[in-house]
Amino acid sequence: MKAIICTKYGSPDVLQLREVEKPTPKDNEIRIRICAATVGPADCAFRKGDPIIVRLFYGLSKPKNPILGFELAGEIEAVGKDVKLYRVGDQVFGLSAKISGAHADYKCLPEDAPLAIKSSSMSYEEAAAVCDGATTALTFLRDMAKIQSDQKVLINGASGSVGVHAIQLAKFYGAEVTGVCSTTNVSLVKSLGADKVIDYTKEDFTKASESYDVIFDAVGKRSFAQCKGSLTQRGVYLSTVPTFSIVLQMLWTSMLGGKKAIFTTAGLMQSKENLIFLKELYEAGKIKAVIDQRYSLEQTAEAHRYVDKGHKKGSVVITMGHNSKS
Ligand SMILES: NC(=O)c1ccc[n+]([C@@H]2O[C@H](COP(=O)([O-])OP(=O)(O)OC[C@H]3O[C@@H](n4cnc5c(N)ncnc54)[C@H](OP(=O)(O)O)[C@@H]3O)[C@@H](O)[C@H]2O)c1
Repeated sequence: MKAIICTKYGSPDVLQLREVEKPTPKDNEIRIRICAATVGPADCAFRKGDPIIVRLFYGLSKPKNPILGFELAGEIEAVGKDVKLYRVGDQVFGLSAKISGAHADYKCLPEDAPLAIKSSSMSYEEAAAVCDGATTALTFLRDMAKIQSDQKVLINGASGSVGVHAIQLAKFYGAEVTGVCSTTNVSLVKSLGADKVIDYTKEDFTKASESYDVIFDAVGKRSFAQCKGSLTQRGVYLSTVPTFSIVLQMLWTSMLGGKKAIFTTAGLMQSKENLIFLKELYEAGKIKAVIDQRYSLEQTAEAHRYVDKGHKKGSVVITMGHNSKS
């Protein structure tokens, strides 16, 4: 099969298209013929080996698992003898969170991995794009912030993959939602349901008098210290990006009764239930996928170059040669 191999840490040039052995499913595994995957900042971080913590866990001098890619959608092509939940031909979507490997023609995953049957109304590309960002936004807003209807919620980085889903999910939970993005993305963020949009190139929300119950920094560009003054008395600041200071602030604020700072690794906390929930929201028209660019597997390095720039809107999708519409 074809796969993109990350031979060492570095620029997108380290990514090479190679023929590798097609994986054989173990007794409890399914083999997915991947039709679509995504490239996001996590793939770029794993390719670069930066932040350094990536190397401590995933290989000091080069990635232990050389095939990157976390979100995928595709068709089950083979099942191990003990598999009960799926059959050959099922169309699934989900995450290969712990071991990556989605930038390839095929991937074997245990049947209990965070996967679900894809909705027939979703294309494979939309299904991969819904995994990308939506699962993270759901974990942060529902599970970490315990979002409530009528709360005032601000999403910083509202045009990224996490942000576009955070806006839609916060609206679904009945919050009054403010999205923060640059001028070019104002209309996109409004179209996703934001009640108010702040253009960060013209206005700094941390300097305004408005207070929020939840400030979700989906792109990790503003610190807890900067946002604290814009939180209500028991308000919550969430950040997707791990820094030394957020870890310390999280420990410190968890011991006090007031404003809280929270970071978590949402990618490792996903479940079939979350994917089924997101699929149902998609089918009900409550969330939609936002796809910025599409690349072929062969063009994965180009997709990394685009994502590295940090300006993508929603998701960047890799479409495999054997992709079909449904
Ligand atoms: N903790 C976790 O479990 C977890 C899970 C998933 C992702 N993440 C992390 O979450 C972060 C966001 O992921 P993503 O896929 O949403 O990123 P992304 O799509 O690459 O974010 C890019 C978007 O952010 C906007 N942006 C850039 N600078 C900004 C600023 N200063 N203020 C507001 N918006 C800004 C960009 O538009 P403009 O440049 O036009 O403003 C662009 O639309 C990444 O660092 C990723 O690694 C963490």
